Amino acid sequence: MTSPQTFNIALLPGDGVGPEVTAAAREVLEVIADFFGHDFRFREYAIGGAGIDATGEPLPQETADACMAADAVFLGAVGGPKWDGGKRRPEEGLLAIRKAMGLFANLRPLQVSPVLAHRSPLKREIVEGVDLIVFRELTGGVYFGKKTRDEKGASDLCEYTVVEIERVTRAAFQTARQRRGKVTSVDKANVMETSRLWREVVTRIGAEEYPEIELEHALVDSMAMHLIRKPREYDVILTENMFGDILSDEISVLGGSIGLLPSASLGTEGPGLFEPIHGSAPDIAGQDKANPIGAILSAALLLRHSLKLEDEADSVEAAVAAVLAAGAVTTDLGGELGTRAAAGAVIDAIRAIHWAAAHRVQMHWA
Ligand code: NAD
Ligand code: IPM
Ligand code: MN
Repeated sequence: MTSPQTFNIALLPGDGVGPEVTAAAREVLEVIADFFGHDFRFREYAIGGAGIDATGEPLPQETADACMAADAVFLGAVGGPKWDGGKRRPEEGLLAIRKAMGLFANLRPLQVSPVLAHRSPLKREIVEGVDLIVFRELTGGVYFGKKTRDEKGASDLCEYTVVEIERVTRAAFQTARQRRGKVTSVDKANVMETSRLWREVVTRIGAEEYPEIELEHALVDSMAMHLIRKPREYDVILTENMFGDILSDEISVLGGSIGLLPSASLGTEGPGLFEPIHGSAPDIAGQDKANPIGAILSAALLLRHSLKLEDEADSVEAAVAAVLAAGAVTTDLGGELGTRAAAGAVIDAIRAIHWAAAHRVQMHWA
């Protein structure tokens, strides 16, 4: 067990269901701190629509400064119809904090356990045993290129530098080394120049630095199909910003609900940012309906990647697995629980796991 430590965690609840799932993740982190004897200091800051309402800015300066100074950042979700058509968009805040913190690698893992396979809209034999991770480049591409708009039309420029491709590629290959040793790089090299550069750089890094890793390339359109047809074949999926955004929502369906998927956004150094992949879900906001598991699993990634608390992260993930296996799920997965009750079930499971572990230690000493 790790020795007790103090950490500052910046919470950015955001909009819609963001505050509901952030509260769930915080509660789980508080229980973990309690059991493992850590001191987690939480402070909440405005972002997105909440930032616009409070200061006129989707990323208030105070929020940006606090994120930079924290040990880790947790974000709920941003956006919603309330801010449609306004001068500033909530989503600007999210893009700005990713860029400001240098978070170029966005990890989106998915595992479908046998006990959950029947929750997927796809056939059990297709999704059972899926275990993959998406490495989405997060600070380049069309998201951050120059944008123009006049009365005749509009444009979004897609740009990538060699260095931007190299660093996320290395991160993906390094992870593949600790997994099943396969990287599938996704692009649109038959049409886009940035994709041709992408493919060239990934091929070179693979051959020069990771010859033991199997590398394949796929075009994004057929990849969208293969992910539904044979998702078990994939291990690490490496792709650019926009394709990663789209494919990860598609992949979330394999597991039964977008509400299950966590993410970690990491840079070379400094704090990471952790958020579920789903949005602010305005259709269910404020009704205690949102699935909090994606947020809770993001908290587990926060423990592992930014705080280096591996045992603590394992406890959260084991508790989530136990709760899902027991069928204690929210309505998006066909269950009856609300957000708070689902988070409560995870907390009960953490207590049970911890008690069992402590009990075994005692028996061992006796
Ligand atoms: P969404 O992910 O918010 O919702 C898509 C569908 O999934 C909805 O039917 C919603 O009810 C459901 N859903 C989402 N999260 C869920 C959860 N935790 N539990 C159960 N069901 C859940 O996507 P959208 O409706 O296209 O976007 C809504 C707003 O969110 C937009 O403003 C968009 O820009 C923003 N958005 C933000 C983020 C983020 O903050 N990271 C991500 C995606 C979208
Ligand atoms: C995500 C979201 C964001 C993105 C939006 C809200 C800017 O869809 O995190 O997946 O496109 O990156
Ligand atoms: Mn998205």
